Amino acid sequence: MDSPIDGSIVLFGPPGAGKGTQAGRIVELTGKPAVSTGDMLRAAVVACTDLGMSAKKYMDAGELVPDEVIIGLIAERLEEEDAARGVLFDGYPRTIAQAESLENVAKVSNVISIEVPDEEIIERIVGRRMDPETGDIYHIKFKPGADEIQSRLIQRKDDNESTVRNRLAAYHNQTAPLAEWYEERGLLSRVNGNRSIKDVGDDIASKLST
Ligand code: AP5
Repeated sequence: MDSPIDGSIVLFGPPGAGKGTQAGRIVELTGKPAVSTGDMLRAAVVACTDLGMSAKKYMDAGELVPDEVIIGLIAERLEEEDAARGVLFDGYPRTIAQAESLENVAKVSNVISIEVPDEEIIERIVGRRMDPETGDIYHIKFKPGADEIQSRLIQRKDDNESTVRNRLAAYHNQTAPLAEWYEERGLLSRVNGNRSIKDVGDDIASKLST
């Protein structure tokens, strides 16, 4: 890659903030492909690649996968043709080292920080269910799926209360300082994520259109 790709967006926030839930709407709005490091790592685990096998123990424990692994994964993904006009990063960067490395390969034009209090996060994550056929995200209380798909919905292995607490600790210790890092660069827009999915999405859409 000769020069950094222009026009990428970062969706930032704690686990369960609603990044994946809102990503679809932003993709429709901007035409940029979503790049979720969590989804890429889970696919690598299912495919039993070397990367997947080394990432699995960190993911199951609710810890961040080492920077060098993630940075390599992103560099490879940005070589693909659909990334040429920027992408929507979901869950990346998550450390200052990742953000610094990203500057070499992609220019970020907007960082949307979805803010949700910790006590809300636990209920969201423990109740989350995924549709393995479509990748759609549901919640037993906040967004139940239709009756006909209920039997195929699954729960992520790291969506249990003790792992969530580790993921939240990793977020506060290693990821949250990035909000200030992006704020200093004039790129951060804060969104109150503790509202309905539609209201959060409307707010993000308005932030991206200004
Ligand atoms: P990843 O898959 O990225 O997990 P995460 O950041 O913990 O985020 P989640 O996917 O849990 O939450 P989300 O914000 O997307 O919320 P969602 O929309 O699903 O990462 C997993 C692991 O991979 C990490 O722990 C780490 O090990 C590793 N990893 C990934 N990226 C890495 C990186 N860059 N560096 C190092 N390691 C990395 O919503 C959650 C639930 O809430 C759903 O059930 C949804 O229906 C519901 N919901 C959403 N919005 C609302 C709302 N407004 N009101 C009520 N309910 C809502």
